[in-house]
Amino acid sequence: MRLVNGSISHETTKARKVHSWFRAFVFSWPLIAGATAQVPRTVWDGAYSDTQATRGATLYADRCAACHADDLSGIDQAAPLVGADFLNAWNDQTVNDLFERIRISMPADQPGSLNRTQVADAVAFLLKTNGFPAGATDVPTAADDLKALKILAKKP
Ligand code: HEC
Repeated sequence: MRLVNGSISHETTKARKVHSWFRAFVFSWPLIAGATAQVPRTVWDGAYSDTQATRGATLYADRCAACHADDLSGIDQAAPLVGADFLNAWNDQTVNDLFERIRISMPADQPGSLNRTQVADAVAFLLKTNGFPAGATDVPTAADDLKALKILAKKP
């Protein structure tokens, strides 16, 4: 009788333990979902940090402004990098597309000379100048992360 009781109470403790683990698991889901929701999906979600955009501004002045103008409005063949035409040209493409365009072909007098961090900084500066909000994280440098970020001219 004692043995049976002992084993019953043992089972009960075990069941409680399993139950409390299960509860912890279930109740952690809203937290996990909340964290996921903060990963930027479009340029409207805070896809760059202000610090990064500031680095990008310095890089732009050194490596881009001579052709694209200090205010990004473009000079001759060097297209504007701000405003409706620029945004419509890139609308619905990914940040990776813009990133690769810059990485492979810019600066036009020295293509391929920027490393991935510099390109990401330049993209951050372009996003800021085009009025997109800053966020907590930098424009990423990994292609998969860049592909997961969409450029949308209009706020969804
Ligand atoms: C020597 C001049 C020159 C420099 C320096 C230069 N660009 Fe360009 N850029 C051009 C020209 C010309 C075009 C358009 C023709 C082409 O694609 O080559 C262009 C096109 C672009 C485009 C495509 C615009 C569009 O909407 O299609 C982007 C983006 C761009 N440049 C970004 C940059 C960035 C960022 C830098 C600095 C890191 C930079 N450029 C430096 C001359 C330059």
